[in-house]
Order: sequence, then structure tokens, then C-alpha cells
Amino acid sequence: MMYHKVVDLILRKKQEILIGKSNAFFKKAKQAGFHHLEKSNNPRISIEEIPFRSEIAKLLSVQEDWLIQTYYEYCLAKANFEPLLPAVRSSRRATDHGGKSLDPHEAFALWCVIKKCKAKRILELGTRFGVSARFFRVAHLFMFGLDDSKIYSCDLNREYRYVNDDDFEFIQGDAKLLFPDILKKNKIDLIFNDAHPYDLTKISVSASLEAQSPIITFHDVGKNHPRSPFKREAYFLPVNERNLINLAEYGPWERHVMAEFFGQNLLDEDFSETDQYRVQIFDSLFGLGVAINKKYLT
Ligand SMILES: C[S@@+](CC[C@H](N)C(=O)[O-])C[C@H]1O[C@@H](n2cnc3c(N)ncnc32)[C@H](O)[C@@H]1O
Repeated sequence: MMYHKVVDLILRKKQEILIGKSNAFFKKAKQAGFHHLEKSNNPRISIEEIPFRSEIAKLLSVQEDWLIQTYYEYCLAKANFEPLLPAVRSSRRATDHGGKSLDPHEAFALWCVIKKCKAKRILELGTRFGVSARFFRVAHLFMFGLDDSKIYSCDLNREYRYVNDDDFEFIQGDAKLLFPDILKKNKIDLIFNDAHPYDLTKISVSASLEAQSPIITFHDVGKNHPRSPFKREAYFLPVNERNLINLAEYGPWERHVMAEFFGQNLLDEDFSETDQYRVQIFDSLFGLGVAINKKYLT
């Protein structure tokens, strides 16, 4: 009996701390205009339910408490703002209207990276419908309020519908030509590679490393990607000879590019470390790769 009382007391104390710590977070979100935000009085989150907890802890050098606190914030953001995160809810193509974007677990991993490294300035290659741009915008508003956060997103086509022009800066054109210049002119904390051509990804990583970019991320790098394997050589074949159904001239070769720059072991393994960067591939359905300059992890 006594034992149960003590356990209950500890649990209640933990919850109070969780809610208390979240006050600053709520204040910022409200200042940013999210007035309908409701705080849960019963945040019972156990470490076991947190997706990618060991990968995130290893990549970011964070402890259990930080993960619980951050997952609580993320769940609240998702629960309260589901209409603003319309497609970040499933990894199935059907739910995001034919596009393929971040799934909720990948989004949580990115949420942690943005929070831990204070990634206020994001450059995305491949906007498409703007689902991931919407996610970045909501994450920024939640974490930094109306502070000086900024999202640049580049695409060949203007198709976005989940973001408005005042949410981000859209840059229309070929990222191969535009990317190095954008990087030179602007301080960028996080680059999100989601456009796919092999040479574009290579140019993007070279320029990012030259600029000593803090965080370089890649979507579609999972070993078990439903449309894999993506052979590096395939990119150099004529389109009709590539063994890639439905991919036309695009194909997620990012894992090969990651291996070229951050360690060949990444072709088979999900973790790597160079002198400057720590790299984790989150093995979700499509796969999310994150390389972080270790300077920003202290
Ligand atoms: C997978 S979609 C991006 C999805 C989006 N990031 C999301 O999660 O909602 C890939 C996009 O990359 C764009 N793209 C491909 N090659 C490009 C290039 N060279 N420059 C700019 N955008 C490119 C395509 O037009 C397409 O809209």
C-alpha cells in the first residue's frame, strides 16, 4: 500500500514538472497567435512510447527527461493543430493527396533536432505541396514564437497549398543553379534535401559542407524504402533503362550521396561519425537521414 502511494507521488511530481516546464512553451505559442491551445493536465508519457528514442538520444546526446518533455510538446502540438499539420499523420501516400511527405515519427525526429540545435533558419529543396514546409513553420512558431525564424523552400514548380506566402519564402527554379547562391547569401541552420536528383543532392551536400552548415537532412534514405533498391549507377543510365518503376528521372539516391560524404558504412548501417559530423538514419518506412556538425551538439 505504502509502495503504491510513493509511486503515485513520484508520478504526480513528474507530471507537475512536465506541465511546469511547458509553461514557457505555451506562452510562446500563444504569443504567436495560437490562442486555442489546450494544455493537457494528464501527460502520462512513458519513455517506451517515444519513437526513435535511442537513435535521437545517441544523435543529440539528450537524456530521457528531455525526450519525454519534448515528446509531450510534440504530441500537444499535433493534437491541437492537426488541421495545420494535415498530412503529417501517416506514411501512406493516399493521405497526403498523392504526395509523399514526412511521417509522424520522422517529423518527431526533426522536431527534436530543430529544438536541440535551435534551427531557426531552414532551407528546403523540393517544396511540392508544402506539407513539410507547413510542419517546419508550425515547429518554428511553437518553439521560437514570432522570433526571427525563416523558411526558404525551392521547387521547379509552384504547387504549394499547405503553406501561405507569409509562412515562408518560395524560390522557384532549378535548385542546382540556385542553391549555392542561396547558401552564400543567407545563414542557414538546417537543409532539408527532398528533391532527389543525384547530382542536385551532391551539389547540395558539397555546398553545405563548404559553408559548414550545422545540419544537413535527407528524406527517402531508408534501407527498406518501398521503391528501393536505388542503384547509384542507375542515375547515369538513360531513363528508360533504369530499373525504377514510377520514378521517371527522379530517384532517391540520397543514401549513396550520404555514404560518399559521411562514410561508406552508411550503405548498410544507420549510424556514422566523421571528424566533423555525427550522422543517423532513422529507419522509418521511407527513411530520414540527419547529419549534424558536432560543434552544434555541445
Ligand atoms: C518529394 S517532393 C517534395 C515533397 C515535400 N518536401 C513535402 O514533404 O511535402 C520533390 C519535389 O522536388 C522538386 N524538384 C525536383 N528536382 C528539382 C530541382 N532540380 N530543383 C528544384 N526542385 C526540384 C519536384 O518538383 C518535387 O516537387
